Amino acid sequence: MAEPVTAPVTVITGASEGLGLALAREFARAGHGLLLVARGHAALSAAADAIASASGVRVDVLVADLSTREGCGSVVAALERHGLHGEYLVNNAALGLSGPFAEHEDDEVARLVDLNIRALSDLTARLLPGMIARNRGGVLNVASLAGFMPGPFQGAYYASKAYVLSLSEALAQEVAGTNVRVAAVAPGPLATRFHARMGSQHDYYLRFQGVMGVEPVARSAYAGFMRGRRVIVPGVVNWVSAQFLRVAPHTLLVPFAAWLLARREESGNV
Ligand SMILES: NC(=O)c1ccc[n+]([C@@H]2O[C@H](COP(=O)([O-])OP(=O)(O)OC[C@H]3O[C@@H](n4cnc5c(N)ncnc54)[C@H](OP(=O)(O)O)[C@@H]3O)[C@@H](O)[C@H]2O)c1
Repeated sequence: MAEPVTAPVTVITGASEGLGLALAREFARAGHGLLLVARGHAALSAAADAIASASGVRVDVLVADLSTREGCGSVVAALERHGLHGEYLVNNAALGLSGPFAEHEDDEVARLVDLNIRALSDLTARLLPGMIARNRGGVLNVASLAGFMPGPFQGAYYASKAYVLSLSEALAQEVAGTNVRVAAVAPGPLATRFHARMGSQHDYYLRFQGVMGVEPVARSAYAGFMRGRRVIVPGVVNWVSAQFLRVAPHTLLVPFAAWLLARREESGNV
């Protein structure tokens, strides 16, 4: 019996605001239909309506908590329900945690690992085989400059982004020679609500690294991904930083990172 015909779509996680929303606009501008995923229904629907009317592409939404196994499973169920297949997957949803590791509460670290590592791996494992079978599409993972170094006082977050970078480069090599691509985009600090959510909005890393808007980062990520680049670092200063971080001795780098990442009040006091 012939396979049912499904329409290609780009699945974007964490697409209701911030970089995920900018990436959704970028993919839509290039004509890709979208399945946008986040937990909050109102912001997600508003984003979908705005993108659909600006670009004319079909935009479906899925309300799901991807830090749960059921949430990741519901992505595949939603694709089937809507008669779609995941041509591209953008693993963007992630959360940060700031402060001493030993002081994080209850299951905070577990939730970070569940979203930043497990969900990204789970969704990739679910959708990549279909891409390889169709010899088309790919996975764009949102990593961070944080992935190039250990980050005291944001240790779990930095480590999660190192995982994203490592997995992405490994999978990019595994699919080399096919038409499927896997890449990581590694932005520096962005002007989103991400930092305030974890209470790090006064920390020195935001003063000294320079904060980029999400639109140029999304443009650079999309262009680099479609050109087949494996690691995309948007912005000249960030690109130079990434080259430095790859070779800098950790005996000097990690204490400096601790100074940049220590939790501070508005006055700058730790
Ligand atoms: N902000 C930065 O400086 C920066 C720098 C480098 C890399 N990045 C990376 O860029 C990506 C986006 O960051 P951002 O700053 O745009 O984040 P953000 O503004 O905090 O937005 C996060 C998005 O993820 C969704 N989300 C959060 N938890 C979720 C869950 N459990 N299940 C499903 N969706 C969830 C949120 O919607 P709901 O709350 O409604 O679910 C929202 O749409 C992340 O991977 C981050 O690590 C950020």
